[in-house]
Amino acid sequence: MARYQAPRGTQDVLPEDQPYWRWVLGVAHDVAARYGFQPIEVPVFEETEVFVRGVGTGTDIVEKEMYTFEDRGGRSLTLRPEFTAGIVRAYIEHGMRVRPQPVKLYAVGPVFRYEAPQAGRYRQHTQISCECIGEADPLADFEIMCMAWDLYAALGFQAVQFQLNSIGCPRCRPPYIRDVLVPYLRSRREELNALDVERLQKNPLRVLDTKEPESQAVVNEAPSITAHLCPECSEHFAQLRFYLDMLERPYELNPRLVRGLDYYTRTVFEVTAQGLGAQNAVGGGGRYDGLVEVLGGPPTPGVGFAAGIERIVLALKAQGAVPPPLPAPQVFFVHRGRLAKDAAVALADQVRRRGLGALVAFGERSVKAQMRQASKAGAEYVVIIGDDELAHGEVQVKHLDTGRQEAVVQAELVAWLHKRLTAAHSAP
Ligand code: HAM
Repeated sequence: MARYQAPRGTQDVLPEDQPYWRWVLGVAHDVAARYGFQPIEVPVFEETEVFVRGVGTGTDIVEKEMYTFEDRGGRSLTLRPEFTAGIVRAYIEHGMRVRPQPVKLYAVGPVFRYEAPQAGRYRQHTQISCECIGEADPLADFEIMCMAWDLYAALGFQAVQFQLNSIGCPRCRPPYIRDVLVPYLRSRREELNALDVERLQKNPLRVLDTKEPESQAVVNEAPSITAHLCPECSEHFAQLRFYLDMLERPYELNPRLVRGLDYYTRTVFEVTAQGLGAQNAVGGGGRYDGLVEVLGGPPTPGVGFAAGIERIVLALKAQGAVPPPLPAPQVFFVHRGRLAKDAAVALADQVRRRGLGALVAFGERSVKAQMRQASKAGAEYVVIIGDDELAHGEVQVKHLDTGRQEAVVQAELVAWLHKRLTAAHSAP
């Protein structure tokens, strides 16, 4: 066993898995661009307060999962456990409210949560997070959900499920919790699992999405928040569902869906996929109309969504999806003799300067061994150079797929390859 291993809950993405990653990220960038989202980069760590205030003190993320440390200057910093709070911090800091609203931003990168690792749950995972800040129209919620839809559809996902709920606003949610939910849960307290009894004190809404088997009967019969929304929240939710129905985007209403971050208002949704076991959420999001204000900006609505790349890749593999291959160097130089090797080095250099990929066999192996290397490397053409061919100013070029081989004048080789390789790749 190796002396050092990647830290628990982290993983290396090896070259053989990279085609999946490139594919997923390529599609994600494309979809984001199609919906008018602009890329942004935010730091991997923020002042701890950004997440404590943004994500919320009663959440698992803030209570148990943050990688928080003091830097040498005595500041408390935290590795981002999600993107939304940091992106909203950037929106405020850079005065983006003077730009045309909404501002649509998206970011891709690692996020960190100290969770109990298991299949599909890691301590470092990668998200694409899309945030539409400055728009209250339910059409913005619809667009976010639709965009998520397009992302999974473009990857050929079979059977994704969208679960949808509205959890109201600071006007209608507290009375629901105080006057309806808590009295109900208290009345059936003995039937709840001990963890849920604790949640009932700290964050009663979270009892609704408990995974504890004993508590299921109680939460299944709990009065649903959607029956207690204020008229504005109710109308907003109805309008979002109208758009989803109009464009036939299937979803399931789940009155127990509340999500694990405190900033949500109104819309919350989660996307699940098959083949992942317990950790089957491949994405989730919702509206966060109070977040900009919580982080010190003016009242500004917002809605967003994030997808976990590792889980998408796991689901794609489970479904047997085949990613497009990554480009490999197209030309491989095989040489026989000292002068031939020098010529190969010079020719490969010219080929690369024309923007093509080229490899030269290292060492002085047999031609047969070099040919095997060429086919392993995925080259399209092998250029074979021997000292005697050089004397005639020629090289042999073999097309590996067809096996066809021909002599090409050395001085014309680069143009010859360029013509064939660029024509092949620009064909429709
Ligand atoms: P989240 O549901 O906590 O939402 O995370 C989004 C996605 O990241 C999940 O659906 C899942 O695919 C992936 N994910 C989360 N935790 C892990 C983990 N430990 N290991 C592997 N994958 C994981 C958010 O983070 C919100 N910021 C989403 C959002 C954006 N809401 C509004 N805007």
